[in-house]
Amino acid sequence: MSKITAAITAVGGYVPEYVLTNKILETMVETNDEWITSRTGIKERRILKEEGKGTSFLAIKAAEDLIQKKGLDPKEIDLVIVCTASPDMKAASTAAYTATEIGAVNAFSYDLEAACSSFLFGMSTATAYIEAGRYKKILLIGADKNSSFINYKDRATCIIFGDGAGAVLFEPNEEGLGLQDELLRSNGEGREFLQATYGGSSYPITKDTFNEGKHYVFQDGKTVFKNAVFNMADVSERIMKRNNLTNDDIAWLAAHQANKRIIDATANRIELEEDKVMINIQRYGNTTSATLPLLLFDYESQLKKGDKIIFAAFGGGFTWGSIYLKWAYNS
Ligand code: UT7
Repeated sequence: MSKITAAITAVGGYVPEYVLTNKILETMVETNDEWITSRTGIKERRILKEEGKGTSFLAIKAAEDLIQKKGLDPKEIDLVIVCTASPDMKAASTAAYTATEIGAVNAFSYDLEAACSSFLFGMSTATAYIEAGRYKKILLIGADKNSSFINYKDRATCIIFGDGAGAVLFEPNEEGLGLQDELLRSNGEGREFLQATYGGSSYPITKDTFNEGKHYVFQDGKTVFKNAVFNMADVSERIMKRNNLTNDDIAWLAAHQANKRIIDATANRIELEEDKVMINIQRYGNTTSATLPLLLFDYESQLKKGDKIIFAAFGGGFTWGSIYLKWAYNS
């Protein structure tokens, strides 16, 4: 009997309607379109404005898009994982609410958090369950409402982040397609360079810290940038080497969309031509857990069965890694 592999068999996505352009940001902080475009590649990002709507709103929309396109009966879903760094609430699972709202009444569900690497690490988790034969339909969602903890007076962060969600379905495959290999890493020494310090269990929000804006995300951009460039390129190169892959073998690079310069550096290291590099950062900015599934959402029609894809991500923690996957269907 051939080994069961775990393949992506459907994709969905959602971004909110409101478009926050570089031009609008020029009216909010001291910045300009030319600086943002040349330093990050971002032109606009989407923001979820409606009061009381959190990450689950985005996750549900992306999941519903997938369910509708695939003609999937949500009752057949075994497990719903919501990868997110911005859960709706403390002490209540965002995934549980999402699963119930989409009608996945026979599923169990949980959140998975690894900052910008959440979805990449979630691909590993979903694959392990499928390969073990334990579950057959796993809905893996990457969703973040970053605008909920961004300071729109801090030009170092507010130009980068956006809100959005993407979803994929993992199912068993008997043709050897799907996830082939993974190289996942973390290093807690990185946490001081990218964090929202207050509002977690270490430092609950007080009136003073709230007034000082310490619950917003902070990053030492240069240090994060350097680490992201080195590590994303490093794991991508290593995973290719150990699978005997050259640049000619690779159909696509799907890299976390944090900064176009980081993506370019990764593509250069593995000597990949520009037209094989998935890119949508110009439209969404950095959507944290949603960048990878939103790339698949945007590029799905161009993907062919058997395409070899290198995924790569880097984020807070630090967390990072690379996954080598063979695409399983023509759409
Ligand atoms: O997904 C999680 C991982 N996150 C990342 O991967 C983000 C990694 N970091 C980055 O992408 C980049 O570091 C940033 C885009 C955040 C910043 O770009 P940079 O080239 O590293 O700029 P910088 O922070 O070194 O700032 C250069 C200059 C500074 O001015 P001086 O000191 O040289 O006069 C900044 O004050 O640019 C200034 N600056 C800005 N100017 C206009 C910083 N932000 C802005 C801005 N508009 N928005």
